[in-house]
Amino acid sequence: MRRILIAGNWKMNGDRALAKTLVQACAQSQQSNPQVDIAVFPPFPLIPEAVAAAAGSAVAVGAQDLSAQLKGAYTGEVSAPMIHETGASMVLIGHSERRQRHQEGPELLTEKLKQALAEGLSPIFCIGESLQQREQERTEAVISQQLSILSKPEFRSQLADLVIAYEPVWAIGTGMSASPEQAQAVHAHIRGLLTKLGARISGSVRILYGGSVTPESAAGLLACADIDGALVGGASLKADAFAAIAAAAN
Ligand code: PGA
Repeated sequence: MRRILIAGNWKMNGDRALAKTLVQACAQSQQSNPQVDIAVFPPFPLIPEAVAAAAGSAVAVGAQDLSAQLKGAYTGEVSAPMIHETGASMVLIGHSERRQRHQEGPELLTEKLKQALAEGLSPIFCIGESLQQREQERTEAVISQQLSILSKPEFRSQLADLVIAYEPVWAIGTGMSASPEQAQAVHAHIRGLLTKLGARISGSVRILYGGSVTPESAAGLLACADIDGALVGGASLKADAFAAIAAAAN
């Protein structure tokens, strides 16, 4: 059985006070919904505050990105061991905002995935098509291409704990969520691709949906067979909304 994971991507928002308040609210909603896993992804400087607020609870804390390098002259970069040392246990890789604005492509993302797995950080690997790609009916091809790095032999033994987030670019921050039918169709395609990597991997890898998830849209999405949780942006910055999404996973 795959446990539902509700993950909050705070992006470049918040301060220490908000981090504490939000994580305390997450800890409460985790207690009320013990069958749901909850994780938050604050900006780097707020991770220690979030880790402190999560202490003693089952709320996981992660980073929104990591360096493809282990150490050295990479100004502004943050390595996997540095993230680990803050107490974070997870990391987002390949969010579409990084793919688009920072030109992150398959080679770089492969290196980031290697760094995360080598350090024991649980990655959420983000994928998704643009509106143009969807209109050209290339969604499945784009998803297959973005996931192709997972078939590298070096990853095979480490993929069972991987989380994938399907986030159509046209749905992120637009208020226009994919419908449950649209999302489930792509999730089923992803599950099919994972089957080629082995039954254990396809059975255990969690596939989250992301893109304008709200308390209103969450229940319909989370009821789909291959949707194992949500990666939530905007609504994760409001304690009540995020708690309602976790409750909708019931
Ligand atoms: P959104 O963001 O919920 O604000 O659309 C989702 C994401 O970017 O992960």
